[in-house]
Order: sequence, then structure tokens, then C-alpha cells
Amino acid sequence: MTPLFAFDDATCRDLAEAHGTPCFAYSATVALSGFRALRAALPARVRLAYAVKANPHPDLLRTFANLGASFDCASIGELDRVGALELPPGRTFFAGPGKREAELAKALALGVRVQAEGWEDLARLDALATEPVAVNLRVHPAFDLDEGNRIIGGTGPSAFGVDEEEVPALLARAAALRHVRIRGLHVFAASNQREAATLLAIHGAVLALAKRLHEAHALILEQIDLGGGLGIPYAPGETSLDLVRFGQGLSDLVADHPWFTGELILEPGRFLAGPCGVYLARVVRIKESRGTRFAILEGGINHLIRPLLTGQAFPVQAVGKGEGEVLHTLAGPLCTGLDRLGEVRLPALAPGDLLAFGQAGAYGRNEAMTHFLSHPVPPEVWVAN
Ligand SMILES: Cc1ncc(COP(=O)(O)O)c(C=O)c1O
Repeated sequence: MTPLFAFDDATCRDLAEAHGTPCFAYSATVALSGFRALRAALPARVRLAYAVKANPHPDLLRTFANLGASFDCASIGELDRVGALELPPGRTFFAGPGKREAELAKALALGVRVQAEGWEDLARLDALATEPVAVNLRVHPAFDLDEGNRIIGGTGPSAFGVDEEEVPALLARAAALRHVRIRGLHVFAASNQREAATLLAIHGAVLALAKRLHEAHALILEQIDLGGGLGIPYAPGETSLDLVRFGQGLSDLVADHPWFTGELILEPGRFLAGPCGVYLARVVRIKESRGTRFAILEGGINHLIRPLLTGQAFPVQAVGKGEGEVLHTLAGPLCTGLDRLGEVRLPALAPGDLLAFGQAGAYGRNEAMTHFLSHPVPPEVWVAN
């Protein structure tokens, strides 16, 4: 079972005292070991491209780059952060449903592989390019997506990619482009999925779709990008993704598709960044209101918005106080009734108590509404060992 908290209580206390609260702290050790474990489980044909959106902290990016990671970017800001790593060509990808011309121009200048989300990306790149450019085509599949928490948006209408049924027409149109050639596919169809069998079933469906397109349109595929979506536990008792099973299953899938001799790409964000981070905040006050005990914290959805977006809370513990059974509603300091971080059973909290939220290395500070109410932005502490 993977620990839900990157640091023990004593370290959380030391970090809070040294850096003040609220703050985020990231463990290099946990980030390193998570990356190595995933890498070791995967077949050599799989390229690991860290999804920068999960956490763009420069030390985290450098840590993964040193381990050979590639990077999945989704904005000009992320391209800049990864550009600062000065990686060799071929290690950066650029996805996103609304790429502006300046972003495409930058991607082209940096030699970044674009995941084209529709005709506009292809046509704009073609107009900008002066020599041959290989891109991947992002497809919004028609098959059922295992996606319960609204990150990707299910099987219905989608802003992402080209709807599967529109792909033949798009391929025909793209054949007339001067410089741009579609040489890969990208399908992102899972989110926070901890069941290896479910992920493998989705990836199997993607490979079957790729085979159909390859056969029907003589599409040359150098890459098939399977997206992110590798899950992590957020609640005590939740199991972790079985990496051995997942890696073995991917090897089996590759063996089942001998027609495909290119590279598979995985773009995990949450799996690689989540476990290394904690968010530390103190209790400001306790309010008993009509039968509900509120613990009002130094930070709320301005620092962790995931519970509001997905209805799923981060794991939390009261540092140095052990287990407890008093039900608290955790509220933040914002002037909105939406500012809640969850309902949890903890020891009876008091003002000044320190809370640690685990798995907060992904979709934590960088996803939150940090500017709302102009509270200070919490610092991030990189703990090298
Ligand atoms: C294109 C793309 N790749 C990868 C990811 C990372 O997903 P996850 O953090 O679930 O692995 C996302 C997340 O939204 C994404 O949009």
C-alpha cells in the first residue's frame, strides 16, 4: 500500500515551523522513487512524458528530466518551463484544444511534437512551417470511457481532439497539406484510474482504433500516445495501481499488435507528482454551527480546489495528534460557501493545530484559485532528501 503522506509528522512540523503555513512541500525522494518504479515496470517501447499541468515546479521537472522523462505541455507557459530544461529534440509534446498561433509557432521553433486537436492546428502549423513536420492527431474516441469525475468529459460531445467518426474526412483533407504529416495518434481516455485491467482495456481499444485507421487509410504511425490517467489512492484503504500487472499488460498489448512498430507514449501527471506533495495549513478557528463542527483553516479552495471540482477530498491528518473520531467540516477562509475541503473524522481540533493534506503534489497549488480574495500565494518547498 502506498503511503498517502510524503512526510512523517515530525518533518511536517519542522517544515511548517521553518517555512510558515500555509505551504506546499515536495519530497524529491518520493518523486524519484515513483518515477523509477513506473519506468521499471514499463516495456522499453513506452516513452514516459510527464504531464506538466499536474505540477510545473522547476525542481520536479529537472528531477524527472534527469531520469530521462519526456514532457507533455499544454500552454506556452509550460513550453517555457520545459524549454528551460534545454532537452534534446523529441522529448516535448504539446496538446490542448485551444492552441493559439503564437503557441504553435513556439512549438515549431522548439521542435516540439504537436498533438493536433483538429483541422485548425494542422492548417495553422502548415502555414507556419517551412519544412516537413510530423504531428500526432488527437482523437476523441467513440468507445466508452471509464471516466467518472468530469476531467475529460465522457463519450459525448467534447472540445478535445477530432471525433472518431470525423477522422476519415480529416485525413483526406490533411493529405493536401504542404508540410504537415500525421504520423501518430493521441487518445486520452482515462482519469485517476487505479485498476490496471481498466486502463489496459482502454489502451487495447486505442490500439484497435489505431489499427483500423492504419489499415483503412495506410496511415503511418510512428507514435501512439495513450495519454495519462494512471490513478493514485486518495483515501485510506484504497489500493494502488498494480504496476507489474500494468507493465505486463502493456507488453502483451504490444505483442498483440505486431503491425505497430513505433513508440507508445504515456503521459502520467497525477501518478508521478501526486504522492510527493503535502499541503500544510493550520486551524484558525473552530465554529460549532447548528450541529456541525467547522474547522476553519488558513487555506481552502484557493490552495486545493480538487474537492470542489471532483467531489473527492485529499487525505488529511492532524499532525502529531494521531487518529480521532470527531467529525469536522474543513472550511477555508474565503467568503463563499463553496470553500470546503471535505468532511473528516479527526481528533478534536483546536486553533493552531497543523493539518497535513497528502497526495497534494498533483493538481494542488497550480490548479487552485490562488488569486481569489488576494490571500498570499503559499510557498512551495522542495525537500531534496
Ligand atoms: C493531454 C493530457 N495528457 C495527460 C494528462 C495527465 O493526466 P493525469 O494527471 O490524469 O495522468 C492530462 C490531464 O488533463 C491531459 O489533458
